[in-house]
Amino acid sequence: MTRNPLIDWTVKKIRNTLFPGSALYWERHYSKDGNSGSGSYGRSAEYKAGFLNQFVENNHIQSVIEFGCGDGNQAMQFNFPSYTGLDVSTTAIEKCGELCKNDPAKQFFILDEKTTGLKAELAISLDVIYHLIEKDVYENYMKQLFTAATKYVIIYAWDVESDKNYHVKHRKFSAWIKENVPEFKLFNKIKNSTFSDFYIYHRR
Ligand SMILES: C[S@@+](CC[C@H](N)C(=O)[O-])C[C@H]1O[C@@H](n2cnc3c(N)ncnc32)[C@H](O)[C@@H]1O
Repeated sequence: MTRNPLIDWTVKKIRNTLFPGSALYWERHYSKDGNSGSGSYGRSAEYKAGFLNQFVENNHIQSVIEFGCGDGNQAMQFNFPSYTGLDVSTTAIEKCGELCKNDPAKQFFILDEKTTGLKAELAISLDVIYHLIEKDVYENYMKQLFTAATKYVIIYAWDVESDKNYHVKHRKFSAWIKENVPEFKLFNKIKNSTFSDFYIYHRR
């Protein structure tokens, strides 16, 4: 069946207008039993965990903090000496606590003014940046991510600028980093077969 571009455009416009905001979108999603998405399960989750577990071991990293940890399915697969997961969704944090309750190396908190000062050697952002629809939310998130890292930041996302499409908007985050946190230098990019790649930044 041929799609009508005008109908597609109108549906997209209405959906974008009805978007409740990124934080509320995720809280509603998780409280209706939604999960963190296909990137947090199966082969994608194994790939992300495999890469990060190796990086942490090779670089003798002692502490990791994640901004936007999701429902815990991805975090469960991390073998880090110490891991703190933060998220804006209370329901997601409750799910993480339940899933990882027998793992003393992992702790989870809601991302708010009480937890924004937490730091770790490595700060990670996995499949989150392109869900930060509002400009101020995106910029605040990036500041928190880079402030928290004493040595490294690893981002898993697609480094392009796109229009907003309901709960997705890609960001050219490398440009933001160059301009706002020049003390961090990109020292490796690991290309993946999907649109997201790993970007490793190092504090100079
Ligand atoms: C696609 S999930 C990715 C979860 C996890 N990082 C993974 O790779 O499995 C995106 C997560 O980002 C969280 N999120 C959305 N806006 C956020 C913000 N401003 N700060 C921190 N987390 C946020 C959502 O609640 C959701 O759990």
